[in-house]
Amino acid sequence: MNAVSANLLKNLGTFLSARTLQMSTVNISPAAAEAGNYCITFDDVEKAHSVIKPYVHQTPLMTCSFIDKLCGRNVFMKTENLQKTGSFKIRGAANAIASLVRKNIKPDCIVTHSSGNFGLAVAKTAKHFNIPAYIVMPSNAPECKKNTVKSYGGVVVECSPTEKARMQKVKSVWVEKGGCFIHASQTAEVISGHATIGFEMLKQNPDLDAIVVPVGSGAMISGITIAAKHIKPSIKIYAAEPEKANDCYLSKCNSHITPVDHPVVTIADGVKVTIGENAWPIIRDLVDDVITVSEEQIIEATKLVWERAKLVIEPTSGVGIAAIVSEKFSKAKGMHDDVKNIGVVLCGGNADVGTVAKILTGV
Ligand SMILES: Cc1ncc(COP(=O)(O)O)c(C=O)c1O
Repeated sequence: MNAVSANLLKNLGTFLSARTLQMSTVNISPAAAEAGNYCITFDDVEKAHSVIKPYVHQTPLMTCSFIDKLCGRNVFMKTENLQKTGSFKIRGAANAIASLVRKNIKPDCIVTHSSGNFGLAVAKTAKHFNIPAYIVMPSNAPECKKNTVKSYGGVVVECSPTEKARMQKVKSVWVEKGGCFIHASQTAEVISGHATIGFEMLKQNPDLDAIVVPVGSGAMISGITIAAKHIKPSIKIYAAEPEKANDCYLSKCNSHITPVDHPVVTIADGVKVTIGENAWPIIRDLVDDVITVSEEQIIEATKLVWERAKLVIEPTSGVGIAAIVSEKFSKAKGMHDDVKNIGVVLCGGNADVGTVAKILTGV
């Protein structure tokens, strides 16, 4: 790293460190773990909403009477599968990068790690600002996602599919290339970018009584929760999660982050990761309940949306739909009869064609 980029890094450190992460440290100030003192505020969400406007779509809230019937409530699907780059991740990536640029900070490059969708979002946004992007991806990430990163001009750097390997690779790329590291889920600007989903949903339908969000690292649900509960304190927020990757469920039960103690194998590749430290205090304090679903339920729900709503979703989006049509949903904490209008985030549409063919044909 040359002196200029070292200095830039220092500056970026100043910019990003106050409430965000530095490289492999997933440390937050102890105060952030206290109730009510979270990594983002509603002001950050409002700011993010105006910062990202030029780079994202305001995706529609769509309905499907067949899904209403199965859920027994009115369902409003936030179609982030139709979002630029095919998922909500562009919101966080655009907020993190555009916020830097607005402060006249143009890094030599952006370095991040991602199993797919965040990598696409960073590659596209970085290209917009003419900044090289290095995306560390696990070797088993879906080919379609690796290819799309490359099509946006991002450089894919593969690593073994373990948390340790990915952080080691990120570190070595960052040391070699310099620039700015953006954590895919725990950087505060990423979380406030994702939060704009909740902000928009309540603008589009102020009558929503609950929002259901698939959870992986928790960046999306924690952001949505801060936005939605500020605008409408009575709203319920539910996390949806595969049974095979149920760390959010376990964490809520144990009141501390509890990773699963086995290798995670689920068709919902977007939510394999464990909740992050910045998202956790918000989930711990403000998310009403967690609904877990089986692989069969995820597959059925994904099929349902393809066939009945005519929307192309990836299986991770099926997790939320599986939750709202499950028996567990009506038994979730706070789910009373007056909770009638349910928002659910269709978080991504980057389906691998081979995987989807298997889902649809059952072969
Ligand atoms: C399509 C999709 N949905 C949901 C998630 C989970 O979001 P989060 O990690 O913010 O909980 C991801 C994360 O990669 C994703 O790609």
